Amino acid sequence: SLRRSTNVVWQDTDITREIRSKQKNQKPLTLWFTGLSGSGKSTLANEVEKRLVAMGKHTMLLDGDNVRHGLNKNLGFKEVDRVENIRRVSEVAKLMNDAGIIAITSFISPYASDRENAREIIGKEYIEIYVSTPLEECEKRDVKGLYKKARSGEIPEFTGVSSPYEAPANPEIEIDTSKHSIDAAADYIMDQLVTYLE
Ligand code: PPS
Repeated sequence: SLRRSTNVVWQDTDITREIRSKQKNQKPLTLWFTGLSGSGKSTLANEVEKRLVAMGKHTMLLDGDNVRHGLNKNLGFKEVDRVENIRRVSEVAKLMNDAGIIAITSFISPYASDRENAREIIGKEYIEIYVSTPLEECEKRDVKGLYKKARSGEIPEFTGVSSPYEAPANPEIEIDTSKHSIDAAADYIMDQLVTYLE
């Protein structure tokens, strides 16, 4: 297949994803948060993770700002870099799922084709959560002062201002944090997740 490297042969292991997840007594999932900068995706991802851990679930949160300090520190915000950022995160989420863990990712992931690619890499475990807080609200919050810098041209190619955000057409879950408190939004997501968790 396209995903196989030349002269590298896939090695099957005796301990499988099924055995690893059975030992953790849970179904692996990838909760893929997507939305504009300042939409509340990281805050929500954090709240959802706390709720899952309180239920005894084994989770791992991958957040854009943090992953860009380590694994992806060589990537910027040009289109090719964002594509590679999301590709790597998709593969890491899949590895987490192989380990039986519930991966939670919080990346803008602005391109629909990259999210489709993530869905393909991760498979049926992929659950897209669109944090659909409108641009005006994100910009009004401007928690990190980045929109101001983007408008003045100090930051080039800023999502929503000078770089595109392609809204998901069919997310499994959608929530707008301009209409709900973080607590209510996290509760709503947990309600929507019930069927996937069992
Ligand atoms: S992407 O598009 O998925 O590759 O972006 P991501 O890895 O999630 O990183 C987004 C965070 O990086 C900061 N930042 C920028 N965002 C968008 N555009 C540009 N040009 C940019 N430069 C820096 C910003 O703080 C984002 O954080 P969040 O948490 O989304 O607000």
